[in-house]
Amino acid sequence: MISVGVLREYRRRKIATSLIQKLLVQFGSRIRELWLEVNTANEGAVKLYEGFGFRRVMIIENYYSDDSPALRMRLAVDEAAEDGAAATRERLA
Ligand SMILES: CC(C)(COP(=O)(O)OP(=O)(O)OC[C@H]1O[C@@H](n2cnc3c(N)ncnc32)[C@H](O)[C@@H]1OP(=O)(O)O)[C@@H](O)C(=O)NCCC(=O)NCCS
Repeated sequence: MISVGVLREYRRRKIATSLIQKLLVQFGSRIRELWLEVNTANEGAVKLYEGFGFRRVMIIENYYSDDSPALRMRLAVDEAAEDGAAATRERLA
């Protein structure tokens, strides 16, 4: 998955949540971990990913074409299913 986006007028209706949830349900048993990069300024997206149990790994400076930094995040699907990342556990159930 390269990117996720929802039209402005449809945001905050759990559409992105539902898309990511479908990805996890579809491929969860065959995925050990997921990695992504998100603009550090994109607090809404970071919150969305943290809701699935993604953890902050590192900042990558000058990542985007405008030189803004990215936050690299990781979700260990097994750990998330076991360690209390309730959202992911429920979504994989
Ligand atoms: C980020 C994006 C995909 C979220 O899509 P969405 O369908 O609105 O997200 P959801 O409704 O599933 O949000 C789930 C949770 O994520 C968090 N969240 C999402 N957008 C947020 C925002 N703008 N501000 C704060 N929290 C936000 C909230 O915790 C939200 O739950 P809540 O609405 O109950 O508080 C959408 O804002 C978007 O398309 N942005 C532009 C493209 C982009 O930045 N993509 C990500 C690139 S990595």
